[in-house]
Amino acid sequence: MAAIEPGYVCRRCGWGLSRRDGELDCPNCGVAVPIVDEIPRFPVPDAVDESAHETFFDRLAPVYETPVWFRPLYRFVGGATAPRDDRSTIASMLDLEAESGTEPAAEGDTEAPSVLDVACGTGRITRRVARDATSVLGVDISGGMLERAQRYAAREGLENVAFARMSADELWIDDGAFDRVACCWALHLFPDVDAALAELHRVLRSGGRLVGTTIVDEYVLGASPVRAVARLTVGAEPFDVESFRDRLREAGFSSLEFDRRGAALFFRARAG
Ligand SMILES: C[S@@+](CC[C@H](N)C(=O)[O-])C[C@H]1O[C@@H](n2cnc3c(N)ncnc32)[C@H](O)[C@@H]1O
Ligand SMILES: [Zn+2]
Repeated sequence: MAAIEPGYVCRRCGWGLSRRDGELDCPNCGVAVPIVDEIPRFPVPDAVDESAHETFFDRLAPVYETPVWFRPLYRFVGGATAPRDDRSTIASMLDLEAESGTEPAAEGDTEAPSVLDVACGTGRITRRVARDATSVLGVDISGGMLERAQRYAAREGLENVAFARMSADELWIDDGAFDRVACCWALHLFPDVDAALAELHRVLRSGGRLVGTTIVDEYVLGASPVRAVARLTVGAEPFDVESFRDRLREAGFSSLEFDRRGAALFFRARAG
């Protein structure tokens, strides 16, 4: 049983979904979303090659958090000046304790923020953020990554997290439902980045914050052979910093902050 029960909305008609007999049902249009091992599996848009992501990231899931994958890749991409622990950096950029001082959702609201972790993978960031947030929903397209995420979170006894299979460019989540959105090491993988950014903006409350990391075509990724390997292995397309800035603005974000370390770009932005 998921420790928290997020409110999901139907993307076909906008009604709230309700849980019944092992699925989430839309009482209005009849859409039924299966729940497999406590993870709802929402449909993904046709433009997303679900099988490609599932195949690669499903296979990667068992080793993703072991010393052979994330850490060496992070060092290679981020270089010597990248923060030692990107999780703590993201948690502090999310400003999870400062809700009372910064545009509270409602007057007198001092509760820790709710966080949506988009493309959460095995939940590396989700679990770190859960320590300081009210609740965290992790969504990802890969069932294999999500199964790990669920298992690792349970092992740590985290009761304020839940996971769901969704694509970043079609979130089955209500407008303004979250105080914070994290999206780490993933935007460069999305086939429709602008649709995904529009979704991240839509599900944030006004004044809410987007925090994340992505990769840019500088440092090691300035070299075309390295970019070719990134494209062929995971379908990664590094951004040009200036055009990434423009795309965030076009999606409606403001107060943009960037910190580039090697080819790793840490970013923070405000919705509205
Ligand atoms: C490099 S991992 C990052 C995982 C996690 N955010 C972290 O920092 O460790 C990239 C993740 O993006 C997910 N992903 C790729 N395309 C996606 C999409 N369209 N919607 C949601 N997740 C997606 C992959 O399944 C994978 O788990
Ligand atoms: Zn519906």
